Amino acid sequence: MGRVQDKIILLTGGAMGLGRAGAQRLVDEGARLIITDHDVEAGTQTAKELGENVEFLEQDVTDPERWTEVIGHVEAAYGRLDVLINNAAVTVFGSIADVSYEDFRRCYRVDVDSIFLGCKSAMDLMSKTGGSMINLSSAAAINASADLVAYNSAKAAIPMLTKSIALYCAREKNGVRVNAVLPGTIMTPNVESVIAGTPDPAETERLFALAQPVGHMGEPDDIAHLMVYLASDESKFATGAAFAVDGGLSI
Ligand SMILES: NC(=O)c1ccc[n+]([C@@H]2O[C@H](COP(=O)([O-])OP(=O)(O)OC[C@H]3O[C@@H](n4cnc5c(N)ncnc54)[C@H](O)[C@@H]3O)[C@@H](O)[C@H]2O)c1
Repeated sequence: MGRVQDKIILLTGGAMGLGRAGAQRLVDEGARLIITDHDVEAGTQTAKELGENVEFLEQDVTDPERWTEVIGHVEAAYGRLDVLINNAAVTVFGSIADVSYEDFRRCYRVDVDSIFLGCKSAMDLMSKTGGSMINLSSAAAINASADLVAYNSAKAAIPMLTKSIALYCAREKNGVRVNAVLPGTIMTPNVESVIAGTPDPAETERLFALAQPVGHMGEPDDIAHLMVYLASDESKFATGAAFAVDGGLSI
């Protein structure tokens, strides 16, 4: 049997990067996945490549009505939801001097509001059977940078949002546990394009690697394996925790 055999898992931002890597490992371990993304072309292609146990739905995670529709679809098609992985996010660069209020709000809407909406929309359905909510934060929740004012603060909100929801679930005894994941720098299409967009990409890549005390970046599977653990019953006593997988970045 797989470690998440027959679990029904909804994963946002599954078209590429850590979401895609997580989806791959979860399918390998026997799960049935609904991946969502606002990039329809990439999401459709990813679901096709991952095989018959993966379905793709278009979703903008900032849209409350779409959350209701997506959860309604999951309930109608699968009857339950075992795991919700709130993975979709954007990185907004800039200091307090550079970032517009509009971009600051956009970062919060995609990175924070989406997690509130996801957990709130899925709560009733997941409470029927119990399950696991997994919220992607970042080592950037702990390590600040002058040029990441929006992303740092948005990602820092996620562990506390996670703790509050975890305590609510514990009080309700609804069998739902809620945890946050804090990756260090992992080479994904997002990070690749950030590096490519700098004046000296080779130097940027070297500095990104050195930010981790271990001296190198992580791989998507470093986070995908943690997703499998948190999605599986192996983590049944873990709730309200923030799991750092970051090569020591947040020490
Ligand atoms: N890669 C890293 O180094 C790193 C480090 C720390 C934390 N994280 C976090 O891990 C998660 C995944 O990161 P990644 O590097 O794979 O990112 P990515 O940009 O490669 O992938 C994010 C996915 O989310 C989707 N998305 C963006 N906005 C959306 C929206 N409004 N609605 C629906 N989908 C949307 C994108 O289309 C994309 O498929 C994010 O929460 C990110 O903040 C990543």
